[in-house]
Amino acid sequence: MNITLRVWRQSGKDDKGRMVSYDVEDVSVDMSFLEVFDVLNERLTLTGEDPVAFDHDCREGICGMCSMVIDGIAHGPQVGVATCQLHMRSFTDGDVIDVEPWRAEPFPVIKDLVVDRSAFDRIIQAGGYISAPTGSAPDANVVPVPKTDSDNAFDAAACIGCGACVAACPNGSAALFVGAKITHLGDLPQGQPERDSRALHMAQQHDAEGFGGCTQIGECTAVCPKEIQLDVISRFHKDVLGAMWRRQSDK
Ligand code: SF4
Ligand code: FES
Repeated sequence: MNITLRVWRQSGKDDKGRMVSYDVEDVSVDMSFLEVFDVLNERLTLTGEDPVAFDHDCREGICGMCSMVIDGIAHGPQVGVATCQLHMRSFTDGDVIDVEPWRAEPFPVIKDLVVDRSAFDRIIQAGGYISAPTGSAPDANVVPVPKTDSDNAFDAAACIGCGACVAACPNGSAALFVGAKITHLGDLPQGQPERDSRALHMAQQHDAEGFGGCTQIGECTAVCPKEIQLDVISRFHKDVLGAMWRRQSDK
């Protein structure tokens, strides 16, 4: 099939940026969306033009690097997949497809479709870890964990840190991302020692980075490639309030 890509081109943070149209012919329905960009970039390189910069790594929905807003939807029209798992069978011959970067103030554009997501790294550094010495992989039954807790922790741990939730949120909130990390670590025994400080420090860093507050609109979970559910945000807020209350009571 033949398609037209209207791609956001921006040479750097000081460039205003603009949409540029590219016709791409003979696109196979079995190609991934990123492979179409590979084909386009090969053509641009051969003709001496600047290829489109875009983030990608694993190309199997694990790393969280791919990040494109496709026709206004973070990660595109297919529910529960990252951009790298989107295939051209989701489109039809003659489509004109708009492709833009994540748009949120804490994710400034570096070039074209690549944004700086180091704000997420700083939120993790603020508290998204455990300090319990876990040693080498122990026997699975050494630390008993209730099945519901391990299931909840596992579901939250599926977050790949892509940032689609922020790109989709009208408030530019990263509450789904932070909630996923807090739920993942806070549901396990190894995560208990820092549970209060984790919630407080991650919330403070979230706000310091310029992410907005959550007003439970739900756009985040609708675009999340791992279908992280809104209840992790309730857990996030509950842990922050619990930590504040305990600190107040200790005074
Ligand atoms: S919660 Fe979902 S959309 Fe947000 S960073 Fe994690 S995987 Fe990506
Ligand atoms: S390239 Fe790794 S999740 Fe898409």
